[in-house]
Amino acid sequence: MNRLLAPQTAAPDAALHSERWALAGGRIAHLRQLRPGDVGAERAFFNGLSLDSRHQRFHFGLRELSPALLKLLTDVDQRLHRAWVVEAEAPGRPVVADARYVRDPAEPATAEFALAVADDWQGRGLGRRLVAHLAREARRQGVQRLYGEVLAENRRMLALMRELGARLQAHPDGPQLVRAVLTL
Ligand SMILES: CC(C)(COP(=O)(O)OP(=O)(O)OC[C@H]1O[C@@H](n2cnc3c(N)ncnc32)[C@H](O)[C@@H]1OP(=O)(O)O)[C@@H](O)C(=O)NCCC(=O)NCCS
Repeated sequence: MNRLLAPQTAAPDAALHSERWALAGGRIAHLRQLRPGDVGAERAFFNGLSLDSRHQRFHFGLRELSPALLKLLTDVDQRLHRAWVVEAEAPGRPVVADARYVRDPAEPATAEFALAVADDWQGRGLGRRLVAHLAREARRQGVQRLYGEVLAENRRMLALMRELGARLQAHPDGPQLVRAVLTL
């Protein structure tokens, strides 16, 4: 059986694995896999993003996360849909970033990713580290093509993807979107 079509599971210890990241400016953050108990922390994180960041992340003006969207973001199988959070090393361990990719079972060598970093934590290297992390994990899982749908106005994200070697492609939905594709 094609290795890519064989059932893929995350490494058995993936749920326990965490990484400590020292960021530009001296802040410390911890990356770990999203857990079922993170619903409240995720709600607080996404609702705490500025309207602009939420717009860049979801591509529409989202005042507040609906229960349906929150469920979509937190009810992940960590197999086809893999998600991580970054927590601040601070009291209460607030979530300060979220990153994920989703594979289509019909096309498991391709995955779509998305991420967001809390406004107050942007520009410290978290975005770059998170995309690199997603690319590493996706490659380990057999993904060959990892892409993100980016608003054409999102210069920061496009600059980041360009620096990481992504191809920026015209989007079939129109010039407001760009598809940033990493070949793994
Ligand atoms: C886009 C986003 C994920 C980037 O994360 P970040 O932690 O701010 O990014 P980094 O600090 O790792 O910066 C990475 C690169 O972005 C670019 N960048 C950073 N700040 C920038 C700015 N103010 N203007 C233009 N480019 C900028 C640079 O190329 C930078 O590389 P450098 O470190 O060599 O300067 C973050 O801004 C974000 O969450 N935005 C809102 C949601 C979003 O846009 N998600 C992406 C849609 S999938």
